[in-house]
Amino acid sequence: MTATLRSWTGLSDNEAISAFLYTLYQPDNRDGNWFQPIWEYAYTHAWHDDAAMARNGVWEDGGRIVAAALYESCLGEAFFQVHPDYTHLKPAMLAYAEEQLAGTDKQGRRYLRAYVNQWDTPLLDLARARDYVRDADEDRPMSQLVIPDPFPPIRLPQGYRVQSLADDNDLRKVDRVLHRGFNHPGEPPEDGLAGRKKMQSGPHYRLDTTIVTVAPDGQFVSFAGLWYEPVNRFGYVEPVATDPDYRRMGLGTAAVMEGVRRCALEGATVAYVGSTKLFYQSMGFREVARQECWLKYL
Ligand SMILES: CC(C)(COP(=O)(O)OP(=O)(O)OC[C@H]1O[C@@H](n2cnc3c(N)ncnc32)[C@H](O)[C@@H]1OP(=O)(O)O)[C@@H](O)C(=O)NCCC(=O)NCCS
Repeated sequence: MTATLRSWTGLSDNEAISAFLYTLYQPDNRDGNWFQPIWEYAYTHAWHDDAAMARNGVWEDGGRIVAAALYESCLGEAFFQVHPDYTHLKPAMLAYAEEQLAGTDKQGRRYLRAYVNQWDTPLLDLARARDYVRDADEDRPMSQLVIPDPFPPIRLPQGYRVQSLADDNDLRKVDRVLHRGFNHPGEPPEDGLAGRKKMQSGPHYRLDTTIVTVAPDGQFVSFAGLWYEPVNRFGYVEPVATDPDYRRMGLGTAAVMEGVRRCALEGATVAYVGSTKLFYQSMGFREVARQECWLKYL
C-alpha cells in the first residue's frame, strides 16, 4: 500500500479531511485519531493560523486520503491521523512534521510538539529514539460520558434558563460570555465579533446544539458548544465557559447537559470532551484515552 504525500491545497480539503476523519472513528478514541468536530473546531477557531494551512500534510492512495499530519492552532504542533492499514507511514509523518510543522519560540528556537497515542508503542519508541522528551502538561486527554437513560432533569437556580443559539444568536452576548468566561478581564474589545462569526462558519456547525445559560437580566453567562457527529452518532463538547461572576452555581453543568441531551435526542449514546477537569468528572465524564505530548527542539 503505497501512499503519496501532498500538501493541503485549499478550502475543499477541509471537507475531504472531515470525510476521512469520519471513517476513522473508534469507540473510546482507542486509536487517538481526531474526531471530525475537533478538526472543524480547530480550523474555524478565531486564533487558528489560517496562513500556514498549506503546511498540513496529506497522504493519498488511489485518490483517497489515508493519513494526515495536521496542526491544531499554529505551527509547532503535530497531530497524526492515520487509517489503520497505513500505520507504516508514521515515521515518514513524523519526519514531515519536523520539517513542515515546526514552530519557532521567542528565543528563536525551532521546536515541535508531537502528539502520540498512549498505546502507540512503535511511535513512542521512535519519538524517544529521536530525542523527544515528554511534556505531560500539554497532553491531550479524552474523557467520555455514557449518556444516562433516562436523562436526568437539568437543574438551574431560579430565574435562569438554558436555550440555544438557534433561539437567539446575539453575537455580542456570545462574545462577552466567551471573553469573560475564558478569564479575560473586563468587557470584550470591539473587534471580537468577526472571530465569533468565524467560529460559526464551519459546514457542520449547529446553532441548535450550542447552548447558553441566560441570567435573569438577559445576559449569556455560561456557554457550552456541543457538536453532534451524525456519522458515528456521538456528542463532542467544545468550548465551555462560565462568566467568573456566575461560577459554582451549576450553570456550566446545565449548559453542557442540555447540549448532551439534545445530542442524545438525535441518537448519541456517548459524549466526549478533551479534558479531565473535575467539572466534567462531576457530570460523569471519565478519561478513556490520552494523546501524549512529546517535545523536541530541532
Ligand atoms: C470550568 C467552568 C466552565 C465551570 O463552570 P461553572 O458554571 O462554575 O461550573 P458548575 O457550577 O456547573 O460546577 C459543577 C461542579 O463542577 C466542579 N467544579 C467546577 N469548577 C470547579 C473548580 N474550579 N474546581 C474544582 N471543581 C470544580 C464542582 O464539582 C462543581 O460542583 P460544586 O460547585 O457543587 O462543588 C468554569 O470554571 C470556567 O469557565 N473556567 C474557565 C474556562 C474553562 O476552563 N473551560 C473549560 C475548558 S475544558
